[in-house]
Amino acid sequence: MTRTRLLFAAVVFAVGAVFLSFAYSQPQPAKKPPRLEPVAETKLLMEGLADPNTRALGKLLAAKPKDAEAWNFARGQALLLAEAGNLLLMRPPRTKAGEEAWQTHAAELRDSAAGLARAAAAKDYLQARTALAGVGNACNRCHQTFRVAVRVDPFPDQ
Ligand code: HEC
Repeated sequence: MTRTRLLFAAVVFAVGAVFLSFAYSQPQPAKKPPRLEPVAETKLLMEGLADPNTRALGKLLAAKPKDAEAWNFARGQALLLAEAGNLLLMRPPRTKAGEEAWQTHAAELRDSAAGLARAAAAKDYLQARTALAGVGNACNRCHQTFRVAVRVDPFPDQ
């Protein structure tokens, strides 16, 4: 009698173990990878990233930067502007026509700012100034397209 019970318990255990190991060996449903999601308002990106870095670059490049540290600072600010372009790519308006224009302008900002970062890394003053003017144009083209009454001038005193 006890032997039968023991045997019975062993069989129950074995069946359970097989069942469990089978359950765990089933392929897990593929987890969706995290997606890019805008969090801040576009206005905040303009006020906190685009505008201050453009103004600061205008001041920094008003005359030729004196040392490597200043150039490196300019490079960093340009890269932040380029990343602002990436963040804008995540926030197109909902209409199809609007979306295309938006993505074009956001990519223009990213690419012109990345060019500015390269000029700063090369400590090329003329190229850097030209590139910053190009960044300003990219800002203004988007503002014009979307009727934003903000005119960006990176060198207001000159
Ligand atoms: C892809 C389009 C796009 C680009 C590129 C862009 N902007 Fe804007 N900007 C906008 C939109 C849209 C608004 C209006 C946001 C709102 O009020 O909700 C805006 C608003 C602004 C404002 C006003 C913010 C406020 O307080 O109302 C400033 C300043 C500004 N942008 C600066 C810049 C600068 C500097 C650049 C370039 C370095 C730039 N923007 C590039 C779309 C763009």
